[in-house]
Amino acid sequence: MRMKCSEALVFTPSDGQFIAYNFLEKSVFECSADLLDLLSRLKDWMELDDLRNELPDFEPDEIDAILQGLLSVGALVREDTPDADKEREYRENWSWGLPTALMHFSVQDNPFITVSQAEDIQREKVRSVGLMDLHRANSDKALKLPDPMRNDLIQLMAKRRTIRRALPVPVKLDQVSDCLFSGLGITGWMRNCVGMLPLSMTPSGGGRNPYEAYVFARNVDGLERGVYHYSALGHNLERVADLEEGDITTLIGGQEWGDDKPCMILLCAHMERTMWKYEDPNAYRVIMIEAGHIGQNIMLAATEHGLTACPTAALDHAHAKSILGLTDITQAPIYALTLSMPMTEEGASPEPCHPAH
Ligand SMILES: Cc1cc2nc3c(=O)[nH]c(=O)nc-3n(C[C@H](O)[C@H](O)[C@H](O)COP(=O)(O)O)c2cc1C
Repeated sequence: MRMKCSEALVFTPSDGQFIAYNFLEKSVFECSADLLDLLSRLKDWMELDDLRNELPDFEPDEIDAILQGLLSVGALVREDTPDADKEREYRENWSWGLPTALMHFSVQDNPFITVSQAEDIQREKVRSVGLMDLHRANSDKALKLPDPMRNDLIQLMAKRRTIRRALPVPVKLDQVSDCLFSGLGITGWMRNCVGMLPLSMTPSGGGRNPYEAYVFARNVDGLERGVYHYSALGHNLERVADLEEGDITTLIGGQEWGDDKPCMILLCAHMERTMWKYEDPNAYRVIMIEAGHIGQNIMLAATEHGLTACPTAALDHAHAKSILGLTDITQAPIYALTLSMPMTEEGASPEPCHPAH
C-alpha cells in the first residue's frame, strides 16, 4: 500500500506550530514543524516500509497510529482510493492554481445558517459595531440626473423583486422558455482565429459560454415533472432525471421556501471551457460574474411574465451534481433561480419575507 502527502494542503503559522487545511477534504488539523518536515518528504508515492524508515525514532505500532491519524485528517492520501482519484483529477484538470482552488472547493457544500440564526447574528452586529451605511451619498453640488422611470424597459427592471411566497399555481412552459432564452439562448455566432463562438443576450468572457442550465420542473404547465437540460444550441429541453418531492429545498441548502416553488433553473459552470482559453486565474472571477448576467436576464424575463424569480447561491453542490450526472471537478452548480407566481394579494407581503442573505 503506497501513500503520499496530499497536494491540497495549505498551512498557516499558529502559536509555534501550524494549522493545516485540506481544501479538497475540508479538514483542519494542527501540524508541528516536525510533521511539516515529514510531509515535505512525502511528495511522491511511498511504500509503507519506506515511510516507516522516515520515522526511525518510533516503534512500528506508533508509526501505524501516526499514519492512520494523518490519513484520517487528509494529510496523507492512500493510493487507489476515491481521495487519490480526486487529487489526481484536481492536479490534471484544475489549471488556475491554488488560490482559486482554495476558494472554489472551500465553498462547496457548506452548511447554511437558518433565517433566525442569520437574524441573531445581525442583531449582535448592531449591538457590537452598529449599523453600516449601505450607500455613499454625494454632496448637494452633485449633478442632478433626469427621471429614470421614463421608459418601459427601466419600468420593467424596477418591478423585479425577490418574493419567496408563491401562489399554488403552475408556471407555464412558454414562461420558462422565455427565461431560458433570455439568459442563455444563442442569438448569433462569431468567428475568431480558431473557430466559431456562440453569442447570446448575456456577455461571456472570451465567448467561452461556460454555463449550462437545468430545469427542475415540479409544476410546469406543458412539461412533465422532472429534471431537464436546456440546450441553448437547439433551444430545447431534454429530460435527464426524475424530480423527487423536497428536491428543490434540498438543492437550495435547505431553505424552506423552495418546497412550494413550481420550477427552478440551476446554472452550472463548465469551467473547463473557459480554462481552455485562459490560464489566468482571474478567469474564475469572470465565470462568477457571468452567472450574474444570466441570472438578471432570467429575472427580467420572469418579471415581464408577472412571475418572481428568487435567486440563491446557497446550494447543495454534491446533490445537484449527482442528480445531473456531472462528474468533472471543473463542473459546478453556481446559481439557482426559482420561478413562481408571487403571492401579492391583500394580506400577503410583496416584500421578501427573509432578510438579505
Ligand atoms: C448572488 C445572490 C445570492 C442570493 N442568495 C439568497 C439566498 O441564499 N437566500 C435568499 O433567500 N435570498 C438570496 N438572495 C436574494 C436576496 O436576498 C435579495 O435579492 C435581496 O433581499 C434584495 O431583494 P430584491 O431581490 O427583491 O431586490 C440572493 C441574491 C443574490 C444576488
